Amino acid sequence: MAEKWTPDSWRSKPILQVPEYPDEKALADVEERLSTYPPLVFAGEARDLKRQLADVAAGKGFLLQGGDCAESFAEHHPDHIRDFFRVFLQMAVVLTYAASQPVVKVGRIAGQFAKPRSSNSETKDGVELPSYRGDIINDIAFSPESRIPDPNRLSMAYRQSAATLNLLRAFAQGGFANLDQVHQWMVGFISDSPQGHRYKELADRITEALAFMRACGIDSTSVPQLRSTDFFTSHEALLLGYEESLTRVDSTSGDWYATSGHMLWIGDRTRQPDHAHVEFFRGIENPIGLKCGPSMTPEGLIELIDILNPDNEPGRLTLICRFGADKVFDHLP
Ligand code: TRP
Repeated sequence: MAEKWTPDSWRSKPILQVPEYPDEKALADVEERLSTYPPLVFAGEARDLKRQLADVAAGKGFLLQGGDCAESFAEHHPDHIRDFFRVFLQMAVVLTYAASQPVVKVGRIAGQFAKPRSSNSETKDGVELPSYRGDIINDIAFSPESRIPDPNRLSMAYRQSAATLNLLRAFAQGGFANLDQVHQWMVGFISDSPQGHRYKELADRITEALAFMRACGIDSTSVPQLRSTDFFTSHEALLLGYEESLTRVDSTSGDWYATSGHMLWIGDRTRQPDHAHVEFFRGIENPIGLKCGPSMTPEGLIELIDILNPDNEPGRLTLICRFGADKVFDHLP
């Protein structure tokens, strides 16, 4: 595509799944302010993730991506973040051991606030209101006031993402992700949970492997890689005004990066090749994802790949399948 790209070139394209803000000036003011705030992630981290995903594409690693369908302002409790991270790391250890491959860890967190909806409105007991679109846009309560899109929610989402990311970075680097400790959680799970016995054999083998390494002098005191991990964030970049405000030129490379998270993806409902979301994504250098649902055709997919990854750069584009268990056998091949 020869057309010039800018962080706001998506604004001249047709767009789906966006709310109508009653006060456009208030929205523009919040976006303007956000564009002066610090980035949430550093471009170098996004490049690092892209390199790791390139290894995955070459069969030298495994990608684990997971998290809640949507984050909420009401549930911003540290225990919630801790429990998510704990389960995530437990899965990562098992996969790392079983596959003998590094696991690239990408959370769907610290920015996953917007939800695409199949209908613009919702009806309850004969009352019709605009749909709830996620906490970054409006409120889930079923009342006319709650459902009005509120620009201040962009700042709230930014601040919550910053706080969540801060805790995750502390966990990943500060000792919480120590391999010995993560393995001890698994051992505890086996003795405390009715399902636990199914994992006993695996846990015993990991215990043995760690003991063998320790006997050889390899443990978390001697090898820093055993006491920390790389953890990356991702979300569906649905609300493009928010994303544009956080899209910055990286001073070290001169390239544009979305800095609201390390990896962003395009939803299955907003992947029209000539629409706004694809336009925004083609210009950012981050590793990106593309949701592929049952309506995706092979030709449609190739058209999108040509736009989003014209140089076939490994690690740039991850296809995220969402066909449903009943359709996956027909569509995935
Ligand atoms: N740093 C390595 C990795 O991230 C090993 C490791 C340390 C690890 N803590 C972990 C692996 C927790 C999985 C889970 O792969």
